[in-house]
Amino acid sequence: MSTDKKRDLFDKCESFKRHKVAQEHGVYPFFRPLDDSEGSRVMIENKPRIMLGSNNYLGLTHHPEVIAAAKEALDRFGTGCTGSRMLNGTLNLHNELEEELATFLGKEAVLLWSTGFMSNSGSVGSLCTRKDIIFADREDHASLIDGFVLSQARLVRFKHNDMADLERKLEMNKDHAGGKLLAVDGVYSMTGELAPVDQIVALGRKYGCRILVDEAHAIGTIGPQGRGSVAHFGMTDHVDLVTGTFSKTFASMGGFIGCPQEVKEYLMHNSRQFMYTASFTPSIAATVLTALRIMRTQPELVEQCRSNALWMRSELERMGFNCLASNTAVVPIVIGSVAQMLWFNKRIYEEGVFANPVLPPAVPTNACLVRTSYMATHNRADLQEALDIFEKVGHEIGVIGPNKELMADHWKMMASSVGI
Ligand SMILES: Cc1ncc(COP(=O)(O)O)c(C=O)c1O
Repeated sequence: MSTDKKRDLFDKCESFKRHKVAQEHGVYPFFRPLDDSEGSRVMIENKPRIMLGSNNYLGLTHHPEVIAAAKEALDRFGTGCTGSRMLNGTLNLHNELEEELATFLGKEAVLLWSTGFMSNSGSVGSLCTRKDIIFADREDHASLIDGFVLSQARLVRFKHNDMADLERKLEMNKDHAGGKLLAVDGVYSMTGELAPVDQIVALGRKYGCRILVDEAHAIGTIGPQGRGSVAHFGMTDHVDLVTGTFSKTFASMGGFIGCPQEVKEYLMHNSRQFMYTASFTPSIAATVLTALRIMRTQPELVEQCRSNALWMRSELERMGFNCLASNTAVVPIVIGSVAQMLWFNKRIYEEGVFANPVLPPAVPTNACLVRTSYMATHNRADLQEALDIFEKVGHEIGVIGPNKELMADHWKMMASSVGI
């Protein structure tokens, strides 16, 4: 009889301890509940903090017209749709939103999804099959990656934003007999870098690919009237599929794909992620529709968000921080090792700034970063306060200043002694 202990499904949970080490050292940064929020300022653990970790780019979560529209929809239709779009879950509001968003994006049609994650995984997962091939940037969002896996298509990943590598891979596969998809993020969520959509389009066209751009972080932050990276590069007529989310600029949740009408009809009748889930709630539909109208009529909000981010980036760089090549509303601050980044993040939080730590595998182990993101509704006094905190803590933790090299060694020793 074998003495080997049989493996149980939950063994991995019992041995998963990484988060506990960070908790024991008081540097665990996740799942902090907000007690209150005014958008750009939040209350956490009884202390007001400047919110630099939200994707509420235009600050519309607290816009009075948006809130009024959401309340009205709640009163009129109730709290939920309680069914799939196919059956009882379609409201006039969903159809109106699809039409207005299609016009805004310059696409023939739009299909709504219950989340942005599902719009990527569901559309790629049902449009591509095992006969097809997908070319994808190495830093594409997880929701696209899940779509690639679902589709069972052949996946070819190219180095991040590296057009020479992309072309090499397209050339190697130029005789592939099935369909070809080239999929990228318009703005990369952790670094705020733009994809070179014009070059992506040129290469995609040359090698017969359909092109998909995920505009989750681009709508509302870049392009004329915040129409996104595709519009920014003047490529609206050359990108086949544009996906996105309502969980950022649109101040709510849900997702969409902009596409030809026949693609929309195919997805409506073939995508499991679309058909077998409830549609988003009436108040979400009204929120998003109103946010879209505000974005169209108040383009100064997009400009405000952009100028806040650009100002922060230039001030941070002036202090000596490395903000990579970001030129959008997301401004990363490169810190260093995991330990150094966690302590930096803990200290800015204690001083009154909420930002997002980014850990491997999203970034290389020695280049962990703190992701900051900006809103149209941040005022310069709040941002100046945040800058003062970054400068103070940056010196203290050795991210900037004369002791940088010395402190890097200190953090390496610290990391190996505490096991982070
Ligand atoms: C680039 C990108 N695509 C898609 C999504 C998914 O959006 P949602 O929050 O609506 O699921 C996100 C959200 O994190 C994202 O950053």
